Amino acid sequence: MTLPSSVKIVEVGPRDGLQNEPGELTVATRVKLIEALADAGLRHIEAGSFVSPKWVPKMAGSDQVFAALKARPEVTYSALTPNMQGLEAALAAGVKEVAVFGAASEAFSAKNINCTIAESLERFRPVASAALDAGVAVRGYISCVVGCPYQGAIAPQAVVEVAQQLLDMGCYEISLGDTVGVATPNRIGALLEAVQRKVANQQLAVHFHDTYGQALANIYRALEMGISTIDSSVAGLGGCPYAAGASGNVATEEVIYLLNGLGIAHGVDLAALVQAGAAISAKLGRDNGSKVGRAMG
Ligand code: HMG
Ligand code: MG
Repeated sequence: MTLPSSVKIVEVGPRDGLQNEPGELTVATRVKLIEALADAGLRHIEAGSFVSPKWVPKMAGSDQVFAALKARPEVTYSALTPNMQGLEAALAAGVKEVAVFGAASEAFSAKNINCTIAESLERFRPVASAALDAGVAVRGYISCVVGCPYQGAIAPQAVVEVAQQLLDMGCYEISLGDTVGVATPNRIGALLEAVQRKVANQQLAVHFHDTYGQALANIYRALEMGISTIDSSVAGLGGCPYAAGASGNVATEEVIYLLNGLGIAHGVDLAALVQAGAAISAKLGRDNGSKVGRAMG
């Protein structure tokens, strides 16, 4: 099987990671992390969320984060926007790429965004349309693509249906999220086979959490199947506030180490990334969740 020659990394640590870290988190800490990630060569960084601060308090002040970031034409900073209120706040903050986030599980949709899957898609449609009118690109997430903490196993067809609707409303990329990290490579293979019948590889990303230590194996399987966009989180930060037991995303350091070993281009300076991961781990007073970060730090 031919692996891709280069991979796009979408760094989600400052959003998916920090949204669920306990302890003190200032705007200055968030900005410092994001700048360090951009300095390390990351070109797609999810920098915040325009969601209800009652639901996700750690992402409050995302407008201030965006205001403080140095302009770097080569870097795309994106943010989550679950509804029109979020999109309007993101546009006011000058955000150039947004993401809507749905699920393949009804139970998770209710817990995470307080509506059914169908309602969420209805809600996303005007968000995507207004974003595109404003010249802002839209990414679409699907959570719980293999398993749900509340509902159990999820059928690939449920993912395909949501993916098609997200593409129809103008999302340029669909990130397939194993929110609780329960997937194994055979399940990812079956999922991708089903999704690839309807969606081109260039429009797909994989988003693995490492709760059961399967993320790298799943990434390898996805690479073998032609996927070349990978979401990851520096130092393996975070989890999901509405998925009990979910650990952080696969650590970006682990993904870069794997890609280096496979000779796949990615544009990231691993040593600088390791330093960024060590610094945020120290600042948060937590163990570094990246094995590569611990080995090289
Ligand atoms: P709701 O309570 O149904 O919303 O929440 P509502 O429209 O009835 O509004 C209720 C209150 O929220 C109002 O304020 C609104 O103003 C406010 P109040 O009158 O009570 O003072 N509100 C907002 N405030 C700021 N920004 C907004 C906004 N919208 C409403 N955009 C809602 C619905 C979607 C807002 C809520 O459920 C929410 O914010 N959920 C966010 C959950 C979240 O961010 N989860 C984590 C991200 S998803 C994830 O991590 C998975 C992913 O990584 C992929 C994977 O791993 O699978 C992407
Ligand atoms: Mg996630």
